[in-house]
Amino acid sequence: MVRSKIAGIGYYVPERVVSNDELAGIMDTSDEWIQERTGIQQRRYGKKHEETTTTMAAEATRVACSRAGISPEDIDFIIFATLSPDYYFPGCGVLLQRELGITKKEAGALDIRNQCSGFLYALSIADQFVKTGVYKNVLVVGSEMHSMGLDFSTRGRNVTVIFGDGAGAAIVQPSDDPNRGILTTKLHSDGTYAEKLAFINPGAHGGYHLNKQGETFDFGYPPKDTFGEIFITDKMMADGNYYPNMEGQFVFKLAIQKFPEVIHEALNEVGLNPSDINMLIPHQANLRISQMVQRLLSLRDDQVWNNIQKFGNTTAASVPIALCEAWEAGKIKEGDLVCLAAFGSGFTWGSALIRW
Ligand code: ACO
Repeated sequence: MVRSKIAGIGYYVPERVVSNDELAGIMDTSDEWIQERTGIQQRRYGKKHEETTTTMAAEATRVACSRAGISPEDIDFIIFATLSPDYYFPGCGVLLQRELGITKKEAGALDIRNQCSGFLYALSIADQFVKTGVYKNVLVVGSEMHSMGLDFSTRGRNVTVIFGDGAGAAIVQPSDDPNRGILTTKLHSDGTYAEKLAFINPGAHGGYHLNKQGETFDFGYPPKDTFGEIFITDKMMADGNYYPNMEGQFVFKLAIQKFPEVIHEALNEVGLNPSDINMLIPHQANLRISQMVQRLLSLRDDQVWNNIQKFGNTTAASVPIALCEAWEAGKIKEGDLVCLAAFGSGFTWGSALIRW
């Protein structure tokens, strides 16, 4: 079986820089609080009514295609990871296909709903398609326009200050060198705590949910005997129940356990050690999480790439943006062992090892 490789990568972040001080001007927060807890100094927000999750993905894809030496028309299959799609349906995959003008081949398109680990899941699927000879050019893209769906009142500050907009893309192709390319990918999930980091309304749960912990939630839906569903009710509006919610400390504790676990799992499979990693690209969830993972794996600073300071957490886009930035900075060279890892809502998590 041939290996697959990343033949070209690209990223796009919107022009508009939003500082912590700018957020402190509209909600009760401060630059000091945000930097101390998350490491974030600024993030980017897309242009409302002009840019979308799909248009940003298209920008990143064009760069990735040109670096891979192909045109968008050559793409056989699109795998699009996002939690902030342009539409409830159809997914961003087909919108990106249209945006890129891929009409000749009617390439297939798939959307991934795995939040922070979305790019890892997408990459793993691309790897399976390419190494089994099904496709030659698979586009893997993660893109998020978070700024359109955050609570900018003080109520939403624990979530809102963390997230930023952006997109990253990679073209996955067969590798002509059997020793280079994607060595392995590992994917996991555990839905037990799905609501600990979630964006619940509107949804087909219809307003009632009993999770495994026996907690009941009132999400503000109309009573049971009402015909039809009103997607956003007045109660949801009043309670802010149509925004993402997160139990930060719970997420933090699980993240610092699962990141090292899934990295070790991948390394063990190919008979390598953390010290063999030339560059770890962790999902940019929180600088404190990345620093803890670095310590737990005994990695030096030059073995880990962090850019959350500039871009915030861009969820499905964070791994490809960081990978591309590290590569552009000359920190990833031919033959290097690159490790990608992510953990996020679901919970879902994963890793990939690539001999570059
Ligand atoms: N500005 C000022 N004060 C704030 C803010 C804010 N933006 N957000 C919360 N606070 C306040 C809270 O109201 C609380 O005040 P109180 O003590 O008077 O009640 C206090 O700060 C502490 O709140 P906590 O939520 O306990 O803050 P914590 O120290 O846990 O930090 C954080 C929050 C940064 C989210 C942290 O829990 C964390 O990093 N968790 C990991 C989750 C994560 O990184 N998520 C990213 C997305 S998920 C992912 O990508 C994996």
